[in-house]
Amino acid sequence: MKAPTGVGHLTSLIGQNFDHFFCEADIKQDKPQQEIEIIVQTGRYEWEALIVRQDGRKIRCCKTITALYDRLQKLQGFVVVIRDMTEIQEQQIRLKLLEKAILASSNGIIITDATQANNPIIYVNPGFEKITGYHAEEVKGLNPRFLQGKDTKQPALEKLRAAITTENNCYVTLKNYRKDHTVFWNELTISPIQDEQEKLAHYVGVQKDITEKVEAQMECDRFFSLSIDMLCVANFEGYFVRLNPAWEKTLGYTKEELLSQPFLNFVHSDDRQATQAEAERIAHGNKTIAFENPYLCKDGSYRWLMWNATPFTEQSLIYCVGRDITERKQVEQALKKSEERFRTIADFTHDWEYWLNPERKFIYVSPSCERITGYTPNEFIENANLLKTIVHPRDWLIVKQYLEESFEKEQIYSMDFPIINRQGETRWIAHRCQSVYSEDGR
Ligand SMILES: Cc1cc2nc3c(=O)[nH]c(=O)nc-3n(C[C@H](O)[C@H](O)[C@H](O)COP(=O)(O)O)c2cc1C
Repeated sequence: MKAPTGVGHLTSLIGQNFDHFFCEADIKQDKPQQEIEIIVQTGRYEWEALIVRQDGRKIRCCKTITALYDRLQKLQGFVVVIRDMTEIQEQQIRLKLLEKAILASSNGIIITDATQANNPIIYVNPGFEKITGYHAEEVKGLNPRFLQGKDTKQPALEKLRAAITTENNCYVTLKNYRKDHTVFWNELTISPIQDEQEKLAHYVGVQKDITEKVEAQMECDRFFSLSIDMLCVANFEGYFVRLNPAWEKTLGYTKEELLSQPFLNFVHSDDRQATQAEAERIAHGNKTIAFENPYLCKDGSYRWLMWNATPFTEQSLIYCVGRDITERKQVEQALKKSEERFRTIADFTHDWEYWLNPERKFIYVSPSCERITGYTPNEFIENANLLKTIVHPRDWLIVKQYLEESFEKEQIYSMDFPIINRQGETRWIAHRCQSVYSEDGR
């Protein structure tokens, strides 16, 4: 008699009572005696039971006991066959677990029979039914290509065909149709499965519905293509890696020309150092807001761009939005020139000129005020009350009233009144003033 592994040495078993393999609970319930009675009645008995190993561990076994009779039908003994079920049972548990995992998976799982013509489906899980809307029974026997439509000719299919021909794994994203004719995006992985002779037997396919992700990406791409701002992704090595069409439109280069050289090459030589420093700042994890630099166009002209940028350090990338501000810059420069011209005139007038803002604060005082009052323009700018100080106290009320009136209406007001200069001398000034309103009436 061969004992199951661990039950004990043959020698140690010989002479042992039948009860020897029973666990205590079974002995308490008088199971050994009950089994013998059944065998005596039926001649043979087979059932699964827990038996106790020599080391005390309980294992599940299949016990077959046959009663032995002599020619006179006298009971001679029993033949007991004990089969260790541990491994089989573990396998069954593993299989059940795998089956449960396949049933519970939200991914679609397809198994095809690669030994049959047209590689037909032999199994799909509930995940497949949920993704596609088809029931397992209606797709068995079909090739999974039935999920494609007329407009779903796609390069990924070439990849799939090649993998199936060469019996390889393959990972693709496919446009497919559900049973209700709606589109879904299918992230599909297929793998060959071999039989015991290592011959191709099946393919298993795992589908993941990534429709939401693809549609979000498509929406993002639409904005990317439509933007009139210049959007780009650049790497920390100083090259563009992705550009939207606004780049070609604004600067006149092809995408290839822009991608093929460091972006600094397109920046005006005077601004390269500042641009390089800004790029390094971003690479160190900082954001950029409203950085401005001029970019060289293909026709040799320059366009001013204003940048907002943020790093994606994990991938050594910089995400940037550039806005063409050339027109604004030109207006600013024209304004600056006209302001310079105005200043030149105002600064060199012999008369004292000044501007007040609506809060009655000096915002410009011409240098000639020093000649007339003895005080510098800055003293007036820093001290709004200086005018009151230099007007004779006797006249202040009337001067104040005159000034207040002139603030009310957009017309020229004039008045002659004396002031006391820094040296304490009285000087008469002819004062002329006018309120100026902006287009919005302020
Ligand atoms: C296991 C397995 C699963 C597949 N699942 C899909 C699928 O979900 N959607 C699909 O369009 N094609 C799927 N295919 C691919 C098609 O069956 C077929 O191989 C593909 O359309 C290219 O071959 P054809 O040109 O003969 O159609 C699967 C293939 C295999 C082997």
